[in-house]
Amino acid sequence: MRSTSLSNANDYCVSDRTLAAYFETDWSDFFQHKPESLAERPRSLTSSMSSNSSVKAANAILSAIEDYQVRPKSLLEIGPGLGRTLYELCVNLQDIEKVKVFEPSPIFFDHLLRILHGNVKNVPVIKNAQELFYVPFNCRKIVNIFSASSIDLVNSEMKRADLAAYDLVLCLNVLDQCGSPMQLLKDLKNSVRTGGLLCVSCTYQWPSKHLNVGESTIEDLCQCFGSSWEIVDEVELDYSLRLNHRCRYVFDSHLVIVKKLSIQNATSAQ
Ligand SMILES: C[S@@+](CC[C@H](N)C(=O)[O-])C[C@H]1O[C@@H](n2cnc3c(N)ncnc32)[C@H](O)[C@@H]1O
Repeated sequence: MRSTSLSNANDYCVSDRTLAAYFETDWSDFFQHKPESLAERPRSLTSSMSSNSSVKAANAILSAIEDYQVRPKSLLEIGPGLGRTLYELCVNLQDIEKVKVFEPSPIFFDHLLRILHGNVKNVPVIKNAQELFYVPFNCRKIVNIFSASSIDLVNSEMKRADLAAYDLVLCLNVLDQCGSPMQLLKDLKNSVRTGGLLCVSCTYQWPSKHLNVGESTIEDLCQCFGSSWEIVDEVELDYSLRLNHRCRYVFDSHLVIVKKLSIQNATSAQ
C-alpha cells in the first residue's frame, strides 16, 4: 500500500466531532463492546448510530456491476471520507487489482490510512454537546481485505495530470462539498475508460463555505450526461449524521450510476 501526503490545505471543514459522526454512521458495526462494559456505556451509544448509506450505495453499485456484467480491475475513488463504500466494494469485487484514492482532508486521510493499516484501536463517538468518548474498534477484517490489492492513497484533490482510465470511478457526496463541482465532474468523466462505470452522488446542498465564488451548481445529476453515457441506475439514499447526542441530520443523497459508451455506441444511441 502506497500513501502520499501532499495536502497543505485546510481541513475541508472536518472537525473531531465530524470525524466521530462519520465513524458512527459508517463503521459502528465494527465497534467492539465487551458485554460487561455495556451497562456502563454512555447513553448516547445507541444501536441506531449507523445510517448504512455507504453500504447501501455499495450494494447499488454491486448490482449495477452484476447487471451490466462489468468486471472492474481498477477503481478510483475521490473523497472517500472514512472509506466504508470502498471497503464494501473491495470485499465483493474479486478482480480488483489497482485502487487509487484521493482524499484531501488531512483528518479523514489520516484515519483512513490507519483503518487500512489496522492501526486503529479506539475511535471517537459523540457523548453529548461538548464531549466525545472512545470505543474499541476491530479493524482486523479490513486489513485482510486491503492487503490483497494494491492501493495508492493520496492526500490531495485529484490533479488533471492524475487522470487515467479506470473501470470503476466513485465520487460520493463530494460534488456539493467541493470548490468547483463542474470541473470535478468533468475530470471524473475523463477518468472512466470506455465501457466503465461512474458512480456519483450528491445531496445538492452547495454550502457557500465550500463552493468557490462564481462556480455553477448542478440541479440534477442525470441531466449532466449526454449521449456518450447510459444511465444504468439512480437511487435515493438516506444519509444520516449525528452531530449532537440527541440531534440527527438526515440528507437525501441522489446516487447516479452511468456507463461510458464507445463512440460507435454513442452515435447509434442518438
Ligand atoms: C460529505 S464527505 C463524503 C465522504 C464519503 N464519500 C461519503 O459518502 O461518506 C465529503 C468528502 O469530500 C472530500 N472533498 C472535498 N472536496 C474535494 C475535492 N475537491 N476532491 C476530492 N475530495 C474532496 C472531503 O474531504 C470529504 O471526504
